[in-house]
Parts: sequence; C-alpha cells; structure tokens
Amino acid sequence: MKIFFLLFLSSIIFSCSSPKNEVSSPDGRIKVAFNTNIEGEMFYDVKVDDSIFIDDSQLGFDAKDGLNLKNSFEIIKTEFSSKDETWEQIWGENKVIRNHYNEMAIHLANIDSTYLIIRFRLFNDGLGFRYEYKVKDTDKIILTDELTTFNIKENGVSWSIPASFETYELLYRTLPLNEVEDANTPFTFKTTRLQDYKSTSLSVNESISLSVNESISSESVSIYASIHEAALTDFPEMTLKLTAQGSQLKAQLAPYPDGKTKAVFEKDNFISPWRTIQISDKAVGLINSNLILNLNEPCVLEGDLSWIRPMKYVGVWWGMHLGVESWVMGDRHGATTENAKRYIDFAANNNIDAVLFEGWNEGWDSWGGRQNFDFTKAYADFDIDEIMLYAKTKNVEVIGHHETGGNIINYENQLEEAYRWTKEKGINCVKTGYAGGLPDFHNHHGQHNVRHYRKVVETAARHHITLDVHEPIKPTGIRRTYPNMMTREGARGMEWNAWSEGNPPEHHVMLPFTRLLAGPMDYTPGTFDILFDNTRNSSQRKRWNDNDKGNSRVNTTLAKQLANWVILYSPLQMASDMIEHYEGHPAFQFFRDFNPDCDWSEALQGEPGEYVAIVRRAGEDFFLGAATNGSAREIEIPLTFLEKGKSYEATIYSDGDDAHWETNPTSYKIEKKTVSSNDTLFIKMAAGGGCAVYLIHNS
Ligand code: NOJ
Ligand code: CA
Repeated sequence: MKIFFLLFLSSIIFSCSSPKNEVSSPDGRIKVAFNTNIEGEMFYDVKVDDSIFIDDSQLGFDAKDGLNLKNSFEIIKTEFSSKDETWEQIWGENKVIRNHYNEMAIHLANIDSTYLIIRFRLFNDGLGFRYEYKVKDTDKIILTDELTTFNIKENGVSWSIPASFETYELLYRTLPLNEVEDANTPFTFKTTRLQDYKSTSLSVNESISLSVNESISSESVSIYASIHEAALTDFPEMTLKLTAQGSQLKAQLAPYPDGKTKAVFEKDNFISPWRTIQISDKAVGLINSNLILNLNEPCVLEGDLSWIRPMKYVGVWWGMHLGVESWVMGDRHGATTENAKRYIDFAANNNIDAVLFEGWNEGWDSWGGRQNFDFTKAYADFDIDEIMLYAKTKNVEVIGHHETGGNIINYENQLEEAYRWTKEKGINCVKTGYAGGLPDFHNHHGQHNVRHYRKVVETAARHHITLDVHEPIKPTGIRRTYPNMMTREGARGMEWNAWSEGNPPEHHVMLPFTRLLAGPMDYTPGTFDILFDNTRNSSQRKRWNDNDKGNSRVNTTLAKQLANWVILYSPLQMASDMIEHYEGHPAFQFFRDFNPDCDWSEALQGEPGEYVAIVRRAGEDFFLGAATNGSAREIEIPLTFLEKGKSYEATIYSDGDDAHWETNPTSYKIEKKTVSSNDTLFIKMAAGGGCAVYLIHNS
C-alpha cells in the first residue's frame, strides 16, 4: 500500500513537468531532464543511452534572512542553444580543444521574487550545470546550504580522498559507492547501466526444421564518471556527503568559521561554479575529457603572453625535506649564494629551464609560529642580485618562493609590493605555499580563501608572473581564463615520501583518474636516490617533521619516477632530487630530453589504482609514460599515434628484470629501437614499476 502511494505521489509530482525540459549531448547518448514538483522544488536526472544513470536529484540552495532559493519555483521559459567551436590555449595537455555542446537554460521564478536560470550544458564527455540567481529587493545573499544531489542509480566502485576543508594531502580510498561517507572532488566512480542487446538462437520445431529466434535481453555495462566543479571563482569549494539513501551524494560547501555560513554575496545576485559530471565508457576517457576547461571563461589576459611558458626545473628543495639542509639561515642553509650558483650551473648544463629556491627570504624561523615571512627581504647569505645576474648569464630562470604559512593577512599586506619587487629582480614565476592554519579560524577551502587565491592570481598576472601554488584550492579549470595559474599541488606529492610512510605504489596510478582530472599537479617526480642511501645517515640530517619515523623512502622503482614526469602532467615539471644524485646517472637523459611544452596528449590505457599509459606529443617528439600499482604487469601499446610513414628512434627506460619497488627499486635498463606507427610496444613493468619512452623521429 505504502509503495503504491509513493508511486502515485511521484507520478503526480513529476507529471507537471513539460517534456520540453530535456536536452541531449551532441551524440545523443547523454540526456538530462529537468522537473519541478508540486512544491516547486527542482530536480534533474541523467540518462546514458536511455538508461537512468543519475536518478531524480534535487537542485537549489538554503539561504538566510528569509530568502527562498529552493522552492515555489515555476518555469517561465526554457531556452535551447548549441555551440561547436575549437579554441587554442598557450599551454596545456592539448593546445587545440573542441568545445561542442547543447545547452538548456531553464528560467524560473518564485513567489518570493527569486529569479533563477539553471544552465545545463551537455557534451559528449559529460555535463555541467550551474545556478544563476537574482533576488529582488535585497542587497545581500547568505547561503547556508547547497541542496544539489547526485543520486547515482546503481551502486559501484569509487576512488576518492575523504572530504576535508583544510587539506587535499590525503590517501585515496577504493570504496563501494554506498560506503563513501564523504569525499572530495574530483570524485571518480564506475557504475553500471542496463543495455539492451539482440540475441538470436536456433531451435528445431515440430516439423523438424530449424528456425531462428530473436529476442531482446539486457546486459549490464560499465560507465565511468567523475563529479567535480568548474570555474570556482567566488564560492566555497564543494565536497560530497552520502545521504541516507543508497548511493546518493549531496553537495557540502566549505563553511565560514561560524560553521553555518557557506557563502556571502554583498549584492542581489550570484552565479555558482559549474557542477560537473564527466562520463565515459572507459576510465581513460575521463582523462581525455576537456569538459572542465570548456566550462571556464576564455583567457582574459591580453597582449604578448610569451612570459607564460612551460618549464622544467630543479630546486634547492629536496635537501630540506630530507632534513640535510634547512630553510632557515644557519650552517645547514640550502639557499646560499654558492649553492644557488651550483644549481644554476647544473640547470644550464642539463637543458633545464629554471631553478627554484626555497628558504631564500627572512621569516622561516617564524614558520609554524607567527608566520611572519618577508617577501622582499633575502637572507644575508643569499645575494639575490648576484644570483639573478649569474642566472641571466647562464640563460636560466629563477623560480621565487612565497611560503605564507597560511598567514594570508601578512601575505595580502605585502602582495602588491612583493610581486612588483619580484618582477623587478627578474623573476617570472613564483611558487606559493600555505602550510599552516589560516587566521581567524577560516579554513583553507572556504569562500574567504577562494577569494584570496584569486586575488593572488590576478596580482601575479598584472606583474606578468606565473604561479605554482602549494596547499591550493583545488583546480577547476581557471587556468583557461588566467593561464599564468600554471600548476599547483593539492594532493599528496613527493614531499610525503621524505618524512612519512610515503605514497603507496597505487597512488600514482590513482592521481591521473582523480586529482589530475581537475588540472595539472606539481607532484615533483624524479627522485633517484629512492632509498635515501646518500642522506639517511648523514651527520647533517635533522628530523624536522613529526611524521618522520626514520624509515621513509620512495615507494616506486626508478623507471616509474621517469614515467611520472609524463603521466603526472604539469607545465612546470620538476626533477625533485638533489642534483648530486643526477650527476653521471644515465637515466637522467630522459629529463634532459623531456619537453614539458606538449601540444597533444592521449591516455591510452588504464584503470584507476591499477595502471595507466599516457602519451604526449611536443613538437614532433613523443613522450610515453606507463606505470603500475604494487602488481607487476605487461601491457602492449600499439604505436598508432605516431605519424604514418615516419620512422622514430625510441629510447626505452624500463624496469630491470629483477626490479621490484620494495626490494630492488633502482634496477633499470635503457634500450633503443627503431619503430613506426605499425609497431606495437611490449612493456613489462615490475611491481610498483613503470616505463618511460622518448620517441624522436628519424629525419
Ligand atoms: C609545503 C610544500 O608543498 C613544499 O613543497 C614546501 O617545500 C614546504 N611547504 C615549505 O614551503
Ligand atoms: Ca604540501
């Protein structure tokens, strides 16, 4: 009886909808329908190949002061439009991108004078929707909750980090969808849908003749998808929380310090970021999707943008994390004039564009305390003018560093002058950091800090400075609008290997299907002294981090370190190790040859947390990276991406036959082969291993 009543009710609830409120992707495979119920609450659902993928899911917001952003809505009109264009970016995994979508804009209004457009955009690789609200007779809107849900129809498996409004530097979990209590985005999952197929069978009938029978059956097929957001501009970040029902996830916005306020707009309108769902038949399809970038605004920077360029870099950095050098000035100080020149020489001699110096400025003794960093005052033993002159003569760029310790008040007070001074010194790129709690109990990922991060991007852009942000807000594609926002951390990077249990072997084959769907990551791969043989027992070494139990190491093989330079895309790509660990090492040739300025990329094969193979073309050269989790694996890669009719020299860096990430991580081999697009590469990877290939065409 109860079930009957519910069915009856839901048929009334949704019967008032007009069938017009539906839109499909250009290939017709994905469909979104919009509905309101009798209370004027708003819902959407998503079908893939006519099978429900996201079931009725709520839309809207709760707000303070009697503003009604969630019900009594009526549709005023529905507008449909389409676009098919290609656009170019000055750097990226792909320089040329097709933006092909069908749009449905639902215009609504309620009795409380709220006007709303919900804009759905459907691409062949997924969809995005966003809210555009305007409330009459108010000059302030305070959001207290986002009601958006993602009611995933079938259970499945998911890959994500837990939701945290403070940090993304967490380990990935593989969990059934209905067991994910909460998660950060990109939230990647695999679920199923039913697909009809025709089957034929032969039967012998009574007259002993054969007859062919056709019947329609259903089979369950996989769908991979990832929930995230695009164009996070003036809003708190969205995380997801499981509701009581099955696999239904609900948006959770990072709060202000009162815990209740989520977003504040001192005006009568706001536009939310896009809520996105990338969808693909294959896991690698998610990596090959450009949906997040397509949902961002075009580049706003004008004029000559040659100051924005991808670079390879090394840095005075790993020594500090290993504890053999210090950020603070003293007898173990890393950023000294002498050491700086040594790094600049190394960069110049090894085809490396830039050098990062951390611990160059005053204030490091206040890290973890008052966080009073000075961004225009170099330590006395770091002669910045002499170093900049030296770097110039060697044609090497310097990457500056602004560790804020989270003290964004101190940073914002110096922001304008810091960027002016930095540019004047000849520095075109700055790495920032927010390692520490924020003042006034704000959290890292709330609207307050999203605004701060944007302010820094805009200030840096005005001074023609590019950025690499650590402890950032997660990427949502704003690099399209501000291409000076080049790369960021926002996940557990290499640093965790120096002073903790480290990143497990599956981590690097999880990142491409999760965090990197959102944008580039400054993971900083390339540690060659994998077991820290050269530093572990050094008399210089001091434990500086509470997570350091003295047994840290890198949990991969050496070949996988090379592969990660290709797999973990970053337009600023670092070789993380101390340079003395590269001197004379044959495998370092891969980084010398590596070109971070790629034109085209394709993820070829892979499964989240299992393995991945990605190829990138830079000019006429190709770089291929393959990696596996803790299991050894053999894969075959048809080289069909090479230009037909051309012959290439492949330099293949792979795991040694006896390699194993745990017991024998540094065993590797280098082979050369002549190949063409008709060939297939057989790649054998050790447990926790990988393979990197440089393909240069024979002229
Ligand atoms: C954390 C950053 O991720 C790391 O790269 C940096 O070295 C330290 N903070 C110090 O700024
Ligand atoms: Ca960090």
